[in-house]
Formats: sequence, C-alpha cells, structure tokens
Amino acid sequence: MVSRSVACRVVGTRIILGCLSIVVLAFPALAAAQTAIVDGRALFMDERKGNCSACHKTPADTLLKSASNVGPPLESIKQKYAAPVDRLRLREAISDLSKRNPDTIMPPYGKHRILTETEINAIVAYLETL
Ligand code: HEC
Repeated sequence: MVSRSVACRVVGTRIILGCLSIVVLAFPALAAAQTAIVDGRALFMDERKGNCSACHKTPADTLLKSASNVGPPLESIKQKYAAPVDRLRLREAISDLSKRNPDTIMPPYGKHRILTETEINAIVAYLETL
C-alpha cells in the first residue's frame, strides 16, 4: 500500500514536471509572437516605414484611427488568408502586390526594400489579429 502511494506520487510529480516544462518551453514562443504583433502594429502606422494606415482602415483595432479608404479595410485577415499557404500570399501582397495587380498603387514594400522580411513578418502577425 505504501509503495503504491509512493509510486503514485512519483508519477504525479513526473506529470507536474512534464507540464511545467511544456509551459516553460512554450512561453518564449508566445512572448516572441506577442512582440512581433506589437512591432507589426508600430510598423503599420509608422509614417517612415509601412504607413499602411495612410490607405487602410483597421476596423477591429479601434485605437488605430484611419479614415482612409484608398485601399480596402483590413479585416478578418486570418479567415481570408488561412494558414499555411495563404499566409504566403498575404506576405506576398505586402512584399509586391503588383504581382497580383500590375496597376496597384500600393508600394511594393519587399521588392523596393522599404521593409525587411522580419518587418513584413511582424506586420503579417499584426494583420492576423484583425
Ligand atoms: C498608397 C496606398 C496604400 C498603402 C500605403 C498600402 N496599401 Fe495595401 N492596398 C492598397 C490598395 C489600393 C489595395 C487594393 C488592391 C489592389 O490595389 O490591387 C491594397 C491591398 C492590400 C492588401 C490585400 C487586401 C485583401 O483584402 O486581400 C493587403 C493585405 C494590404 N493592402 C496590406 C497593406 C499593408 C500591410 C500596408 C503597409 C505595409 C499597405 N497595405 C499599404 C493601397 C495601399
């Protein structure tokens, strides 16, 4: 009986330690994702970087006020560009939308090196929250 409860305690401790290590391992990834979203939002409205809000409204982000309707409002992006294949299309839209529409007035941020790959990825992370 005693050895059985000891065995239970050992198993229980292992389960708790296993769960803790999952939390500890997952936390940096979650923190990194959160940082990318914050960076992406800043780049989105930075007049010397993305300046996306000069053309796009973001109805879900009520603190970011843009009255522009030059480009379509950016909303429900996660549904519209569902992962993983369409996320590449979303990245491509920011990098060079002229591939999709040669007459677009949207700047080709990647092609013209206005934004780096990392910056585009951060903006994608932000757009997916809308
Ligand atoms: C000068 C105006 C302008 C700026 C600045 C601009 N866009 Fe656009 N964007 C447009 C227009 C216009 C469209 C409509 C599609 C087209 O032109 O073919 C568009 C389309 C898009 C689309 C595709 C929308 C959809 O529903 O599929 C995304 C995503 C997008 N823009 C993101 C961005 C992001 C992110 C930035 C900033 C890094 C940005 N845009 C900056 C004008 C702009």
